[in-house]
Amino acid sequence: MARILVVGGAGYIGSHVVQALLAAGYKVVVFDNLSTGQRCNLLKGSIFRHGDLLRPASIAEVCREFRFQGVIHLAALKAAGESMLRPEVYARHNITGSLNLLAAATQFGVERFVFSSSAAVYGDPERLPIDEQHATRPVNFYGFTKLTVEQNLAWFARLRGLHIANLRYFNAVGYDPGGALRGLEKRPANLLPVCMEVARGWRERLEIFGDDWPTPDGTCIRDYVHVTDLAAAHVRALEVLGTRETLTLNLGSEVGYSVLEVVQAVERAIGRELPRSNVARRSGDSAELVASAELAREVLDWQPQHSSLETIVSSTWNVYRDAP
Ligand SMILES: NC(=O)c1ccc[n+]([C@@H]2O[C@H](COP(=O)([O-])OP(=O)(O)OC[C@H]3O[C@@H](n4cnc5c(N)ncnc54)[C@H](O)[C@@H]3O)[C@@H](O)[C@H]2O)c1
Repeated sequence: MARILVVGGAGYIGSHVVQALLAAGYKVVVFDNLSTGQRCNLLKGSIFRHGDLLRPASIAEVCREFRFQGVIHLAALKAAGESMLRPEVYARHNITGSLNLLAAATQFGVERFVFSSSAAVYGDPERLPIDEQHATRPVNFYGFTKLTVEQNLAWFARLRGLHIANLRYFNAVGYDPGGALRGLEKRPANLLPVCMEVARGWRERLEIFGDDWPTPDGTCIRDYVHVTDLAAAHVRALEVLGTRETLTLNLGSEVGYSVLEVVQAVERAIGRELPRSNVARRSGDSAELVASAELAREVLDWQPQHSSLETIVSSTWNVYRDAP
């Protein structure tokens, strides 16, 4: 049974990845500092090691102990807006942390490495939908950190023979439709969990960043992909890396919804309107980001199964509605 290290496996996407790996029969070790990850996301059947990528000895120790065949690296700070205000912190966590992991992984014989990249590597789209050939000119520092790690991985593939997959997620949303994973994101900055916090009365109101974008209703358009679909793609990517040396793939639903459309879908699910106000645009945002995921469909034989707006909203509300 192949041993897989999931760094950031106590987090929102990582826990769903662990769930998919366990279902596929892998032995899974989670390495996480629990900064945003949570113990309730640790699944029975996986092994947990508490540690921080910024302490190289702690990650090296785990790699030495288990001699993994594969690593899935999800640990990062992910708020694009915050990255523009705290670039030093994002550089340390996202770039230095990844380099520490890469050093340990290659030292202890890891063969396959799957990296959580982001649509943020593209920046303002020159054309839509965005395919993997699109220029990479990040407009926020977060996207720059992801691109920098991708570039390092390309060199490690050349120099160390590591097989690598950069998975460029668009907006990850939803919760395990089976209801086994219910960990709420801490301090969320993404639209759907913020809507949910407003719905529960934990936040006073929803702020919509800009209603004057060049889109039909003036709010930003994004591509939302369900976490369970993302998780399935990671398992496939690990398998495909057996024969492919490098992969760079978009993971998205290929459907764009405006902020207003998402908010209205939430309002339908909860049966009332959310208190909301329009505020200024955020720096580092783009009007519209929609993926072409044709390559992932072809290379991974992957197709989103849970990414309809209705499933995304209902699986999220199921968790938030019942949360203490
Ligand atoms: N959520 C999205 O829509 C989205 C979109 C594109 C890319 N991504 C990327 O996917 C990955 C996972 O995102 P998520 O939404 O699950 O976020 P998350 O914050 O829930 O998960 C990150 C996990 O990494 C852990 N972690 C952070 N720094 C660490 C460190 N130095 N050492 C050990 N563990 C550490 C956290 O405790 C957490 O469990 C991130 O790399 C993010 O940039 C997310």
